[in-house]
Amino acid sequence: MVRGIFISFEGCDGSGKSTQIKLLAEKLKDAGVDVLVTREPGGTEFGELVRKVLLDSNGPDRTSLAELFLYSAARAEIVQRVIIPALESGRVVLTERFADSTTVYQGYAGGIPIEVIETINNVATCGLVPDLTFVLDVNDPRVFHDRLAPKAKDKIEMRDDRYHSRVREGYRRLALGNPERVRLIDATLPPERILAIVEDNVWKVLRDKKGGRAQ
Ligand code: TMP
Repeated sequence: MVRGIFISFEGCDGSGKSTQIKLLAEKLKDAGVDVLVTREPGGTEFGELVRKVLLDSNGPDRTSLAELFLYSAARAEIVQRVIIPALESGRVVLTERFADSTTVYQGYAGGIPIEVIETINNVATCGLVPDLTFVLDVNDPRVFHDRLAPKAKDKIEMRDDRYHSRVREGYRRLALGNPERVRLIDATLPPERILAIVEDNVWKVLRDKKGGRAQ
């Protein structure tokens, strides 16, 4: 069975993940690659409902532990119903956020021990780990505020600067701890420069895993 390739994009809110996924998906499609784009939380009917509950800016406060289970419930759905079937049929799956978001937001920023998060992540993902992960790193909190300013902030974006600093620091730790999988990219670079770095890495993984057949 030819297995597809699974690539995740991670980073703080407002770091430019959606733009990069869109640009990369276009490039891959132009090159004849069968691509599926998805996001978390969401990507299934159930997941989109959970997303509404989690991000509603008027919604109730909740513990990090409650969040951990809700994000994980949405993840279990998308992994089993969407991502695994797509990978089994050899597609390239690009996801905006995956289990690393839980490690960083509910773990490093939310205070749940990382071993607990790892256990739950492993169950919710059926052990699936991305082949490649890009972390778009925003080193200046003002960029975060400027980029989000035009739209209403969701429940998580409304949290204070200390929470978002822990998120950023968490992503840096994640990248340091997983150098074989995670690429940390300066999100303040021009989008075309970021795309070039992303593409370099993606084509390399495609070549390595598919022996060039995907190109
Ligand atoms: P976004 O799709 O606009 O990035 O919003 C998703 C928000 O949910 C974002 O603030 C990060 C947060 N989040 C978590 O806290 N834990 C998770 O596991 C995931 C997937 C997202």
